[in-house]
Amino acid sequence: MSKVVVITGANSGIGRAAAFKFAELGCEVVMACRDKERSKQVQEEIIQTTNNRHVHLMQVDMSSFSSIKEFNKEYKERFNKLDILIHNAAYINHGSPHRLNPDIIELTFATNVLGPFYMNELLRDVLKRGEKPVILNASSNIVKHFFDPKKHIHFEHLKGEWRASEPFSVYKQYCESKMALVILTFYLAEKYKEDGIRVNALQINGARMSPQTLNKFTLKWRLAARAQNVFFPPPEKMAKCYVDICTTPRFMDVTGSLMNDKLETMVRADVEPSVLKQVKQLTGSQFYPYYADNPEERKKLIDFCESIMTSYQQDVSTL
Ligand SMILES: NC(=O)c1ccc[n+]([C@@H]2O[C@H](COP(=O)([O-])OP(=O)(O)OC[C@H]3O[C@@H](n4cnc5c(N)ncnc54)[C@H](OP(=O)(O)O)[C@@H]3O)[C@@H](O)[C@H]2O)c1
Repeated sequence: MSKVVVITGANSGIGRAAAFKFAELGCEVVMACRDKERSKQVQEEIIQTTNNRHVHLMQVDMSSFSSIKEFNKEYKERFNKLDILIHNAAYINHGSPHRLNPDIIELTFATNVLGPFYMNELLRDVLKRGEKPVILNASSNIVKHFFDPKKHIHFEHLKGEWRASEPFSVYKQYCESKMALVILTFYLAEKYKEDGIRVNALQINGARMSPQTLNKFTLKWRLAARAQNVFFPPPEKMAKCYVDICTTPRFMDVTGSLMNDKLETMVRADVEPSVLKQVKQLTGSQFYPYYADNPEERKKLIDFCESIMTSYQQDVSTL
């Protein structure tokens, strides 16, 4: 298979397992990782195990717009097309204090939403040249919190120092960021249709986390995640979902789909579901919250992303 695949956060967990699988298929794999030193070992292991020499390592910090810009420049110097772009990297440091990216945006949202949003726009022209190009976003079953009709994305808390009355929580930011990614999936699927670029998302229920990932959590969160980890499948299971969604003929014309780990397209929940449906929503993975399709919330998100990107471009052009 002669496809070029970019996987962010390909040095660990699901991203690493996916890099192995795409390399086994003979794809040209670009591991887009923030720490080249640490990721080099993984790259070498993949090359040796799969005997595929076309496994590349490129540095990118998905929380930093200037780093993404650099990545885009270097990518276009080295490759002239892109077939598969997987937004797998995520900031998941549960329990950590409030942190900002270099552009003064809350770090979880910057890494998990604005970084991918910006990278998509920059790589759009090379994706256009790809063969049945597709963007895949890694979402999470944490978006189930949005079945609560009171839940929403707090755009007012995403810029600058934390001024909200409630304490900061990475868990809540992570939940909002993964919902934003679903909304963006639906929006960009429509927007990029004219370029033949498909955009889908996978709702991940759980995958065993590495000790390195668990060590990013504070003690309380680490203990809880360790207990959960026992019941989670290995990351290879989700990596296979990535590969299947991006390469099998069954999905070649699918866009704007949020899929569960059985690769079924999930459907929007009713605004006022019956009690039976509410139970199904919480226990199964057939439904996604109505919020993801709410046109007002979508507009707020797109306006927010575009305004951040516009002010970043203006800041850069005045340097
Ligand atoms: N595991 C689960 O149970 C689960 C459940 C739902 C959703 N997911 C989603 O699945 C995806 C993969 O998660 P995982 O479980 O495989 O976790 P993981 O092993 O911790 O992988 C996360 C990856 O993201 C990278 N990353 C974090 N911040 C970055 C940044 N600023 N720039 C570039 N890369 C960055 C990490 O790199 P470093 O090594 O440098 O930190 C790491 O490679 C994530 O999107 C996660 O939200 C996972």
